[in-house]
Amino acid sequence: MKHFITSTDSTNINSLVLKALAYKQNPTADKQLGAGKRMGLLFLNPSMRTRLSTQIAAQNLGMEPVVFNVGQEGWSLEFEEEAIMSGTTVEHVKDAAPILGNYFDILGIRTFPSLKNKEDDYSELYIKQFIKYSGIPIVSLESATLHPLQSLTDIITITEHLNNSSKKSAPIPAIRGHKPKVVLTWAPHVKPLPQCVANSFAQWINAWGEADFVITHPEDYELDTQFTKGATITHNQEEALKDADFVYVKNWSTYTDYGRIYCNDPDWMLTNEKLQATNNAKVMHCLPVRRNVELSDEILDGPNSIVTQQASNRVWAAQAVLAEILEGSGK
Ligand code: CP
Repeated sequence: MKHFITSTDSTNINSLVLKALAYKQNPTADKQLGAGKRMGLLFLNPSMRTRLSTQIAAQNLGMEPVVFNVGQEGWSLEFEEEAIMSGTTVEHVKDAAPILGNYFDILGIRTFPSLKNKEDDYSELYIKQFIKYSGIPIVSLESATLHPLQSLTDIITITEHLNNSSKKSAPIPAIRGHKPKVVLTWAPHVKPLPQCVANSFAQWINAWGEADFVITHPEDYELDTQFTKGATITHNQEEALKDADFVYVKNWSTYTDYGRIYCNDPDWMLTNEKLQATNNAKVMHCLPVRRNVELSDEILDGPNSIVTQQASNRVWAAQAVLAEILEGSGK
């Protein structure tokens, strides 16, 4: 693996899942793999889980992680080619990235979308410029449109539950005789949020191919079809939830009329009553979550919620990815 930006950067999702689950059993099995190497973690936006889990993952592999909160502590970066930098940006990525490429062996970047200009956000300029100018492997710690470490974690967590329920350790649900029904449901929120987690979950579940995948959301909340193609999409949440094995709850703002909130209908919030229609589904969310807006207390504090396990698995997803990059890197 060279970079980790999107599902296609993994040639075999199930082997990545197996690798992550093996690290969960033995976190320091490859302590020598990253010895003498450094990982830079650049945050243009806030984070708790991604920041800490990736640092722990790097340390488990013997790497030294260095965190830099660019958004708060660094010079304001310019990403446009041929920009006349007479505004607020102080340093061009063309100048900064090669230096970071010399300091580090792997670079992780977190950026968010502006939610103002769809073409700009969906061009993924920030990540592309770091790939172009740093000369080292780039790991997305969430970009304008995708959150691959989260999505890999989500598949690891689903696989872990399927293995536990079937008492088998095979990573492929299909060989157990049936595919689990996985539902991604839109949830209300008070402010416009990126589509990254939903896009990415859809992209990875489709690429994985081991689930019956249904997406449900209110009208006008369609996601970009490049990520959802292959999923069943319905505006009827009740119908979508029927017999679900896993329900992934997430808000996103509108994609077509970009970055808006049309409806904040509290009826879309998942409750125990709605869960009755499912196959005693496990409930997932990437966190952070606004309680009793996106997800009810009764769900989050109840037996069906696996959000803590899911967030804990972030370490193993990051570790599997970093290990694959280190194994493939000549640096
Ligand atoms: N889920 C997730 O990416 O959490 P953080 O924003 O805290 O990193």
